[in-house]
Amino acid sequence: MSKKTKTTFVCQECGQTSVKWLGKCPSCQAWSSFVEELEAPEASSSPGGGAFGAIHATKPQKLKDVEGAQLNRKNCGIGELDRVLGGGIVNGALILLGGDPGIGKSTLLLQTTVLCSNRGDRVLYVTGEESPKQTKMRFDRLGAQLNSDLWLVAETSVERIEEHIKDIKPTLLIIDSVQTLYTQQLQSAPGSVGQLRAVTSRMMAIAKGQEISTFLVGHVTKDGAIAGPRVLEHMVDTVLYFEGQKGHPLRMLRAVKNRFGSTDEVGTFEMQENGLVEVLNPSELFLSERAKDASGSVVTCSYEGTRPLLVEIQGLVCPTVYGNPRRTTLGFDSNRVAMLMAVLEKKAGLEIAGADVFLNIAGGVKLNEPALDLGVIIALASSHIDRAIDYHTMVFGEIGLGGEIRAVNGATARIIEGKQLGFKKIILPQSNLNRLEKKIDEIELVGVEHITQALDALFY
Ligand code: TYD
Ligand code: MG
Repeated sequence: MSKKTKTTFVCQECGQTSVKWLGKCPSCQAWSSFVEELEAPEASSSPGGGAFGAIHATKPQKLKDVEGAQLNRKNCGIGELDRVLGGGIVNGALILLGGDPGIGKSTLLLQTTVLCSNRGDRVLYVTGEESPKQTKMRFDRLGAQLNSDLWLVAETSVERIEEHIKDIKPTLLIIDSVQTLYTQQLQSAPGSVGQLRAVTSRMMAIAKGQEISTFLVGHVTKDGAIAGPRVLEHMVDTVLYFEGQKGHPLRMLRAVKNRFGSTDEVGTFEMQENGLVEVLNPSELFLSERAKDASGSVVTCSYEGTRPLLVEIQGLVCPTVYGNPRRTTLGFDSNRVAMLMAVLEKKAGLEIAGADVFLNIAGGVKLNEPALDLGVIIALASSHIDRAIDYHTMVFGEIGLGGEIRAVNGATARIIEGKQLGFKKIILPQSNLNRLEKKIDEIELVGVEHITQALDALFY
């Protein structure tokens, strides 16, 4: 019945095609750049119609005549996930959930599906990695209540998954993981770039054509035979990353692309013995283990999406014992730390270039906001001169190469969060202080324009 489709190999660098795989592109000389792809499908060649299968049937219309600008969304019941998605799962959306193996992607989605099916969704959970038995064991571990149908199938062939979708007619579909899936139309192995793209475009056609909200799990991999979720980012509606550090229970869910909402929301979870639990006040959690009167520690405020987040930055500067000085950074961009160290050395006269420098954001989070710059500098300076910062003082501000302190967004929200958690004094950019919309009582605000002023305000 099914028509034989032809495949071809395409160079990812220059677009050169070939009927067989080549190690080196004869045109642009790139190595290992050929990826197997289906030849441009005819409209009817794939069962779902193909991602672009319906092109010939479309008709241009005026923008003002387009109907249904309202998106149909459903709340899954996990507030943090709903918020990161922009207010719930959009019907027919294709969502990629990426993350390191073992971080908790399957756990998050199983919890989501149980809640959704209890709310009336018909769910099909396709597991390509674990047997249904293993998934059942995980479910038992979660101790969740399931009073509705949740269908499970261990399958890796896209063609057979399409059959199951026809039978079950789900409204929510989980593919765990996309890297285990393959289409019989391609010769290459599951997880290769060609397979990944073909499988994802089939899933896109199904999600859109039948209005099935679909989650694709994608493992972030180190370079190797299996391609990572990055190659799929442009094909899907929403890209979420689930992050955390090994050995830390804290997990952060971040949207890096969202066609249906903003991308800077972050959801926080804690991995516990029986599943993921939402962390509603992450600042409290981050500061719960802070040591009193310890040099090298300072609290700063990051602004994630619509939520300010207080975190402790820890710096340790000590003499190098032998060889080159060591630099280790956890949770923050190491290039930025190198830049800030240079600013500290040159503009504030602190000699740390020859010392070992370690920097850590406590709690196992990864943050990359420039407003944390001042915190980094203060943590390093505090460790270098071995003087602790007052326990009730917080800092934030971006730093330029001249040592100047620049304004950041959301200053009011940061100040209020600090005040709520008991801080009495905040060092912040002078320009933010000048522009503050409303007066905030019971907290001392110190505006600074240069890092030397900030150091003076804290240590001298
Ligand atoms: P998993 O969801 O399988 O990760 P992924 O799908 O991203 O590969 O999570 C696996 C880890 O989570 C595993 O190390 C055990 C831990 N875990 C808990 O700590 N508590 C739980 O309730 C569950 C289900 C898992
Ligand atoms: Mg998994």
